[in-house]
Amino acid sequence: MGGHDPKDRMKLLRTREALLAWRAGLPAGTSVAFVPTMGYLHEGHLSLLREGRRRAGATGQLVLSIFVNPTQFGPGEDLDRYPRDEAGDLAKAASCGVDVAFCPTDGAALYPNGTRTWVEVEGLDRHLCGASRPGHFRGVCTVVAKLWGLVQPSVGLFGEKDYQQLAILRRMHADLNLVGELLGQPIVREPDGLAMSSRNTNLKGTARQEALAISRYLAAVRERFAAGERDSAALLADPSQALAPGRVDYASLVDADELQPVASVAGPVLVAVAAFFGGVRLIDNTLLRP
Ligand code: PAJ
Repeated sequence: MGGHDPKDRMKLLRTREALLAWRAGLPAGTSVAFVPTMGYLHEGHLSLLREGRRRAGATGQLVLSIFVNPTQFGPGEDLDRYPRDEAGDLAKAASCGVDVAFCPTDGAALYPNGTRTWVEVEGLDRHLCGASRPGHFRGVCTVVAKLWGLVQPSVGLFGEKDYQQLAILRRMHADLNLVGELLGQPIVREPDGLAMSSRNTNLKGTARQEALAISRYLAAVRERFAAGERDSAALLADPSQALAPGRVDYASLVDADELQPVASVAGPVLVAVAAFFGGVRLIDNTLLRP
């Protein structure tokens, strides 16, 4: 009963000014959970929102941002093909108890008059996505720092699906003394194992089924590890063959903290994969602990 449509309660804010005014009006000490996204929400995003709702508590506020951040896309990447569905996203957000949806209308809302300030975390972007997408993490860090300053959250939530992004943001959060806590959350998968991603909607024809090779490959690496294999090359075996007809961008084994390649597994390591299926670049990963 009750009859209140949660959508009526959710605030939709479009400008930095509106968000800052809302934030300034909150009673001191209000707990604020924050989930930044680029939209086209799926169960991975919703798991962050539900945990954010739980963390904010009954008296706290849950903030979602939807912003396809232009500065984290390189030339020739899929900025213009990135899927969007604001109406659908807002309905899902309301059902997860979001209090404020911050949806700037265009890039200029967060980069007025050309921005001159960039945030870069050294070293952690040397491998994996940092190597194949130059400037990507600079764009991610810059926009998350901007958003963090506006929202001033008690807790910000991020997915382990983008493990390198999470590691880099953790470091930025610590190095810049940002307020609140930064929390990582487990990867949410489709029932058949494919890691959820907004980009999955761009998988056409046979590409959707072929993309299962990624989670199958990660499971095979886990099995070799469970059987006692510790040599990185032997664990990774032949990714090009395992991921065919997908085109491998990278399949790497790196130490879980510094994200540098290791020859063999002594401490916690990350197995990370990026591969193209039907022209769509997908990433996935799994942690191995000896
Ligand atoms: P986006 O790809 O929309 O992801 C938003 C958040 O959802 C990220 O923290 C991401 O790790 C998490 N996420 C995505 N897929 C997930 C899955 N299958 N399981 C669990 N969590 C998942 O990541 C970005 O946007 C942007 O780079 C952003 C941080 C918003 C900066 O622009």
